[in-house]
Amino acid sequence: MTIAVLGGAGYIGSHTVAQLVKAGEDVVVLDNLITGHRQAVDPKARFYQGDIRDYHFLSSVFSQEKIDGIIHFAAFSIVPESMKDPLKYFDNNTGGMITLLEAMHQFGIGKIVFSSTAATYGEPKSIPIKEDDPQVPTNPYGESKLAMEKIMHWSDVAYGIKFVALRYFNVAGAMPDGSIGEDHNPETHLIPIILQVAAGTRDGLQIFGDDYPTKDGTNVRDYVHVVDLADAHILAMKYLNDGGDSNAFNLGSATGFSNLEILNAARKVTGKEIPAKIGPRRAGDPSTLIAASDKARKILGWQPQYDDVEKVIATAWNWHESHPKGFGDR
Ligand code: UFG
Repeated sequence: MTIAVLGGAGYIGSHTVAQLVKAGEDVVVLDNLITGHRQAVDPKARFYQGDIRDYHFLSSVFSQEKIDGIIHFAAFSIVPESMKDPLKYFDNNTGGMITLLEAMHQFGIGKIVFSSTAATYGEPKSIPIKEDDPQVPTNPYGESKLAMEKIMHWSDVAYGIKFVALRYFNVAGAMPDGSIGEDHNPETHLIPIILQVAAGTRDGLQIFGDDYPTKDGTNVRDYVHVVDLADAHILAMKYLNDGGDSNAFNLGSATGFSNLEILNAARKVTGKEIPAKIGPRRAGDPSTLIAASDKARKILGWQPQYDDVEKVIATAWNWHESHPKGFGDR
């Protein structure tokens, strides 16, 4: 089958493209390269540069290629940026989804696997977070993705477009062979920032807040390896191909690590001191996010390979050490 990966030049998208190619799938990548990297895309995938808000772009690709299913990563995803510029998020993320679904409906493409987020839950009422827990986002990023889930639901009801929403927790790591990895500009995520400090390509690290109601006062997050996450998308597409109904799944490890625990794990993996200061809280950060992800294991048959946060960090460190300038394209 031919799968179109939207945002396939981005961090999670490029790892999914690589895993799809390895699995023998025919892959088409669409990306506007605003945050993605052309070099991150597996050479066996056919690449089209353009924006999913552009209906003519989508219809031209969908006319040239016979697409059987869509995997959709093409969205902005930085929580603090969304607090400062919410309309950017509603325009690209939510608006982009409307244009995409219009094109899918027009071209008879009936399946979409969508990259949603734990940020749709907001500050959870209970831990671990289950898929049917209330979704009350605390930031515009999460709100934009929740709206996308709802739009997909009503498009299923009206047009029969089936979807799987994968709600990611904190994604980290890189392809174990070091060929691709995380390269954001600016970088805002904890693990790559820590590793840039370890590699000497960044000056300082601040831990945002140590007065949360957690074990050591710093935020607690649930980390999942990017290759495990990529494989979950392939399983989700298979689930839809096998006639599975629209559904949502958490993707996490069900284990929480505080920001200080991550810092200490990175010190151990890298053997570097990694100096850090405690700073003020960052706006929009929930205190603790840990997934219940037995649903994905049970229904999709998902079996994450990286169950140890040090192993996750080690693959990211391999990438950062060998690519101190990332892909080097900006
Ligand atoms: N943090 C620091 N210092 C930094 C950067 C981050 O202390 O320099 C802290 C944050 O305050 C937070 C933790 O590290 O407590 C993780 O922050 P990230 O920015 O790495 O990730 P987030 O938890 O904010 O968000 C990530 C994804 C979202 C997703 C969310 C769900 O970026 O898309 O996980 O768990 F919604």
